[in-house]
Amino acid sequence: MEENLKIPGHIAIIMDGNGRWAKKKGLARTVGHTNGAKALQRTIEACKKFGVKTLTVYAFSTENWSRPKEEVDFLMKLFLNYLTKQSKKLIENKIKFNVLGDKLRFSPEIQNAMKKLESDTQNFTEFTLNVALNYGGHAEIIKATKEIAEDLKSGKISVDDIDEKLFESHLYTCGQLPPDLIIRTSGEQRLSGFLLWQSSYSEFYFPSVHFPDFDEKQLYIAIQEYSKRDRRYGKV
Ligand code: FPP
Repeated sequence: MEENLKIPGHIAIIMDGNGRWAKKKGLARTVGHTNGAKALQRTIEACKKFGVKTLTVYAFSTENWSRPKEEVDFLMKLFLNYLTKQSKKLIENKIKFNVLGDKLRFSPEIQNAMKKLESDTQNFTEFTLNVALNYGGHAEIIKATKEIAEDLKSGKISVDDIDEKLFESHLYTCGQLPPDLIIRTSGEQRLSGFLLWQSSYSEFYFPSVHFPDFDEKQLYIAIQEYSKRDRRYGKV
């Protein structure tokens, strides 16, 4: 590794391009998602190797439910498989797992698997994997606002108690540091509602590689690019 490489503590990835990757190869979109899951595994390992502490990935947005039923069903099977069959690997590797998003829209089987994996990995501190599932940045901000409004109505808090710290405590990422670097693969240059509150001082990187081809080398290039950035947080 280069000596003056700055390692981001928290990397977030919009795992885009599974469908295009498959189409280019004349394969079904679902094959792209299966290979996306393999790329996610490689990315977790590479993050750990480089000393990144937290990886957050966007796996399913609040809008993704409107994809064709067969694709949604396939993704649900893939998620359930990950939550159950891969759970041993996550535990062995001491990875703390969190879901970011509203779990209630998933089947009871998936919800139970999510809760079990979260509770089984809750005390690990070395590395955190956040998977955004049924996540939307607007939905998250509205959820926080509603919870705060309820606390205000019941007299638990007063208007003057509302500040950034209190607001953040109602987000799915409660207690975590914001992402230092946000990567969106496949060349699209937009957030699509990902971590809207949390991304205010993040650096962005948009490689053209489709997510199923993302690997250690691609992550290294992204970290090299991040290392060149001068983060001033609004100061001079
Ligand atoms: C975006 O590519 C990808 C998704 C909506 C699904 C992401 C899921 C994975 C990477 C599977 C692994 C995840 C877990 C948690 C096991 P796209 O389908 O929008 O691609 P396109 O824009 O080229 O059509």
